[in-house]
Amino acid sequence: MVSDTHNRLGTVVCENGTPNVMEFSFVLEGVSNEIIVKRGEFVSVVTPAGEVISRVQDLIRTNRYYQHAEAVREYQSRGEPLRSIFPTDRWQYTVASARVVGLWANNRPVRPYFAVSPGSVVRQVDASVLSQFLRLDPNNGLNLGSLGHHNLAFTPSIDRLLSKHLAILAMSGAGKSYFVSVLLEELLTRTKKQGRIAIVLIDVHGEYRYLKDIEPLTKTESSIVDVEHIRGAHLQIPVNSMTAEGIGSLVSDMSTVQKRELKRVLSEIQSFYKDGYSLKELIDYIRDDDTIKGNTRDALIGWLYNLEETRLFGKEAVPDIKSIVQPGRLTIIDLSDFISLRKKQIVVAHLANELLYLRRRESIPPFLLVLEEAHQFCPESRHDLALPKSRIETIAREGRKFFALLCLISQRPVKLSTTVLSQCSNQAIFRCTNPYDLDHIGRSSEGIDRAALDAITTLEVGESLFVGETVSVPTFVKIRKRYFEPSGKAKSLSDALLRAEK
Ligand SMILES: Nc1ncnc2c1ncn2[C@@H]1O[C@H](COP(=O)(O)OP(=O)(O)OP(=O)(O)O)[C@@H](O)[C@H]1O
Ligand SMILES: [Mg+2]
Repeated sequence: MVSDTHNRLGTVVCENGTPNVMEFSFVLEGVSNEIIVKRGEFVSVVTPAGEVISRVQDLIRTNRYYQHAEAVREYQSRGEPLRSIFPTDRWQYTVASARVVGLWANNRPVRPYFAVSPGSVVRQVDASVLSQFLRLDPNNGLNLGSLGHHNLAFTPSIDRLLSKHLAILAMSGAGKSYFVSVLLEELLTRTKKQGRIAIVLIDVHGEYRYLKDIEPLTKTESSIVDVEHIRGAHLQIPVNSMTAEGIGSLVSDMSTVQKRELKRVLSEIQSFYKDGYSLKELIDYIRDDDTIKGNTRDALIGWLYNLEETRLFGKEAVPDIKSIVQPGRLTIIDLSDFISLRKKQIVVAHLANELLYLRRRESIPPFLLVLEEAHQFCPESRHDLALPKSRIETIAREGRKFFALLCLISQRPVKLSTTVLSQCSNQAIFRCTNPYDLDHIGRSSEGIDRAALDAITTLEVGESLFVGETVSVPTFVKIRKRYFEPSGKAKSLSDALLRAEK
């Protein structure tokens, strides 16, 4: 039997139309200056109908001695602080306002439908109840960090976190990529028994390269870390896999006549070069084709030369996506050598297309496509160059049905396609202070209220608000430290400067 004083925090009082179904206030117990409950903490009120779980929204301290500014001023000017004359400390108390987030009844979460009674005791919420209430999975879930203010690991199940796409949003330097490394560590160390997802990561800055050298922590089957690192310069897109529309989307304003001619040439050349062909061979083929009108031919040749210059195209596919995308393997596509956005976009468009095509036919296992700088690849604005946009939007819309999943990362949410963002049922939001971005986040994710948006501006590096399907209510999480650190990377500007001196 739990004693009555166990985990007691305070007593519900009547104030400003509360307690009502969604809100109540309580007076804190204990010595006046003690901090026994913090803003954002979950608390519980046990009722006959179940346990009412709430979150502390605000804390207000009051003291009747200090209610009249005039009196305080008077004692102040006499040089006799109130504290020296009256027992002011004894009259200080704190009122906490709490917002009800749910009712835990018969071992399942229920929508709240009644108000707690004035006089009810408010207690700390039991960690195991909170874990179940939030729908965490301590046994099989991903260990991503801990809940702010609670001694509870944040272990969402892979189903809840990833099966309906995940967006990671924040301003620069808030901890997005760090969180991705933590997530990758968790996904890469899952066992066969637990089931492993294939991961393809588009590494725009080369910051995940270090993962290819990490050593397993323990020598068990589960810890064989399978990482493939592919440099952008080694990639090759097979020309024979490209349609006239595909090529048309890579160059600007191809006319219908030109597309039609190209389509015809492509269907002819397929039977001529059975084992694939290069752009050079395609160009020569067009040059020798007398049936194409002079100006159409020149335009086609010009465009194809232009594509040839990117050095991204060849006879065969490198890598062969079908053989490289495997359960439990991380494939890093390192685009850090490319300066041209267009080249990066061509690669991402091709990969997204192939992955979707192969997954639909079940030629590859369920996969997670992790895309850094997502706003560069699927921007909201129609004016931005956006070759992969339609493919990524298709994965966002349809991918979840056959487990072609996205993890999109962006430091400019306002620039990210709303279609894509609204399809991400899960969002991990780190610190963000730009009002336009905050507004965009607020509008594109349900269940995020004004208070939560305000809290996002005050988050620290490595702290995140999870919203969506992952947890039953928006939850603040402190992301754990990663097990593996990139070696040889400067930690700060001063560190980089010292290294440069050597
Ligand atoms: N959970 C964490 N624990 C400890 N340190 C962290 C954590 N998250 C972030 N950091 C620190 O903050 C730095 C910046 O984080 P990170 O590179 O993830 O930012 P970012 O949001 O990806 O920024 P950008 O948008 O510029 O890519 C990291 O190098 C790391 O030192
Ligand atoms: Mg980053």
